[in-house]
Amino acid sequence: MEFEQNKVIDEGRQGEATVVESTTPSSNGKRLYVESYGCQMNFSDSEVVASIMTNEGYTTTRNIDEADVVLINTCSIRENAETRVRNRLTEFKKRKSDQPELVVGILGCMAERLKKSLLEEEQLVDLVAGPDAYRDLPNLVEEVGSGQRAVNVLLSREETYADISPVRMDTGGVSAFVTIMRGCDNMCSFCVVPFTRGRERSRDPETIIQECKDLFDRGYREVTLLGQNVDSYRWNLTSKGEIKEEGKPTTNFAQLMEMVALISPDLRVRFSTSHPKDMTDDVLEVMAKYENICEYIHLPVQSGNTDVLARMNRGYSREWYLDRIKAIRRIVPDCAISTDIITGFCGETEEEHLDTVNLMKEVQYEFAYMFKYSERPKTLAERRFKDDVPEDVKSRRLNEIIDLQLQSSLYWHQQQIGKVKKVLVEGKSKRSDDEWCGRDGRNSMVIFPKGNFDKGQYIMVKITDCTSATLKGEVVSICEPAN
Ligand code: SAH
Ligand code: SF4
Ligand code: F3S
Repeated sequence: MEFEQNKVIDEGRQGEATVVESTTPSSNGKRLYVESYGCQMNFSDSEVVASIMTNEGYTTTRNIDEADVVLINTCSIRENAETRVRNRLTEFKKRKSDQPELVVGILGCMAERLKKSLLEEEQLVDLVAGPDAYRDLPNLVEEVGSGQRAVNVLLSREETYADISPVRMDTGGVSAFVTIMRGCDNMCSFCVVPFTRGRERSRDPETIIQECKDLFDRGYREVTLLGQNVDSYRWNLTSKGEIKEEGKPTTNFAQLMEMVALISPDLRVRFSTSHPKDMTDDVLEVMAKYENICEYIHLPVQSGNTDVLARMNRGYSREWYLDRIKAIRRIVPDCAISTDIITGFCGETEEEHLDTVNLMKEVQYEFAYMFKYSERPKTLAERRFKDDVPEDVKSRRLNEIIDLQLQSSLYWHQQQIGKVKKVLVEGKSKRSDDEWCGRDGRNSMVIFPKGNFDKGQYIMVKITDCTSATLKGEVVSICEPAN
């Protein structure tokens, strides 16, 4: 299986560590090692960090043993995400006792949440930089070099790193993430993100289009537009939809997506994450209009019960959410839908949990990231409600929904058997050199025998077999490039 089960169970997009590797023409002789945890936005930020540091003369490395600077880009979304990082930092501390000149820095959401305490009370790192402070990294590293401990955790209302061309960290060169906005203004009561990432702000659309065009010219064939709530992307528009500056063009998310789709019919467009309260039909209509916008929506529901949704401060009811599902099915009939669900949120009764179970049965998600509620300091839920669902009940409810989801994923995959799907070739499968893999538009991983094609090409695959995690098939033909 290409998808690791533990990702489905509790870690969601809390991916495994990754490193960035690149070289620089004017090297300062120093090597940088970056490790990333958390969501796609964090992985995307690490590419910005790599870009800033290589411009300063650093060479990035995949081998921590040869690093002069180690940066760890962290996540605070659940307690276990922070525990993993703490364990890793303790390992780095040991490394530092053998190599005292090594600079160890913490970036990202945990840096923003814990600020100076990581330096002072816990003495785990030399440097702390929050998500809006990465331009300052070269200075911060220099400060550490001159014997000081360096911190910058200022959040910004403007920073989007729009002009920075990220150093791509995947070696595949087929699919890339493009951040279109930062921060979040939603204040869902369980969520730490508004505290760690600050206020929502959108990136200049011209820089987004330019980045996507550059990627396409360099051989990339898929971009995923990233934001915590992409439906509220807006350029030169207020939250009420009024024009900010007369005479300047305005752009909303549907328009931005259309602009990206028009770059080339051979550039696939994906996006994440949509918010049910803000997802409008015009976005769905643009999806239906362009073949290269993938028929896949990640629409986190969190709970199937309206009272729980109100306690979560999500801004929609069960009925509203189901109406959005209906709109997707009506406008983009073959669309795959995935979701995020939290079990055992404050005060969740058995009946409320069953509403989530029923909603899952009704929607039949293609895929779901499922989590046990983890109380986060300073959030509305922590201040207002008791984390009163016992751990064993949270686990039991989580296991129930995981079992249900596996059946639902299998159901959807079985529906694909016999169909011929357009697949973007990503490369060798994890299992064997003779089997290659790629995704279909619905975001399912497809495994097929190696053939006379390369990564970045589109092929037509007839689906012959499946599990709940992957599809298997035979290659029917290789697609000609569109232009
Ligand atoms: N912006 C996205 C979600 C970002 S966080 C959205 O609004 O949908 C990714 C997922 O982590 C969330 O959808 C939620 O399911 C989960 N999550 C967030 N905070 C959590 C917490 N305190 N405990 C458990 N899961 C949480
Ligand atoms: Fe968190 Fe809600 Fe913002 Fe998503 S929309 S990042 S869950 S506050
Ligand atoms: Fe984690 Fe921060 Fe992303 S808390 S999920 S890395 S925005």
